[in-house]
Amino acid sequence: MSVRTRTAILISGRGSNMASLLGAASAPDYPAEISLVLSNRPDAGGIARAQDAGIATRIVDHKAYPDREAFEQAMDAALVEAGIEIVCLAGFMRVLTPWFVRRWEGRMINIHPSILPLFRGTQTHRQALEAGVRVHGCTVHFVVPELDAGPIIAQACVPVYPGDDEAALAARVLVEEHRIYPQALAEVASGQALLRDGRCVFRTG
Ligand code: GAR
Repeated sequence: MSVRTRTAILISGRGSNMASLLGAASAPDYPAEISLVLSNRPDAGGIARAQDAGIATRIVDHKAYPDREAFEQAMDAALVEAGIEIVCLAGFMRVLTPWFVRRWEGRMINIHPSILPLFRGTQTHRQALEAGVRVHGCTVHFVVPELDAGPIIAQACVPVYPGDDEAALAARVLVEEHRIYPQALAEVASGQALLRDGRCVFRTG
């Protein structure tokens, strides 16, 4: 049996992307195993969902630490203790310092609800509606110190319809998030997709 890559999912909220990764990883031939779900918020809904699925969970509450560095050192220690090889940010809503990003460079990926490089940051669906774009979507990328600027692993598009509001658009994008994040994690965990010289390269064969 092949060894599966030990993966942590970092969340701050309801954890629907986490659930899609857990679902994919429940298949025996999936190249990553979810070894830990970590939340910076004790009240994150995703924690109960992970526990229900029998996954180890950790709370590292950013409010319990004097500064960002101390918080990130505690997270890093939890990840190292769990033998984590890949980190998936899934609705993790803390900006990470260059120190933490460099520690996990090439081994940390994120899902963002827009077609990057359009609409970085927050409220991406509102940004898309205000810009009047006719297509919108989501991106999985390697995390680099600059926010939402990392090399792109996977993207998916959805149409923007006249009359869409933020909630309708977010729901349409989320369906695609749940589809592409497990695919992208599989590519990274199997070594098919990797960060090299600031780009995502794909190994074939
Ligand atoms: C998702 O739409 C994710 O793309 C977004 O937060 C939502 C989390 O939902 N992430 C960001 O905006 C990161 N900047 P979930 O907790 O149900 O996965």
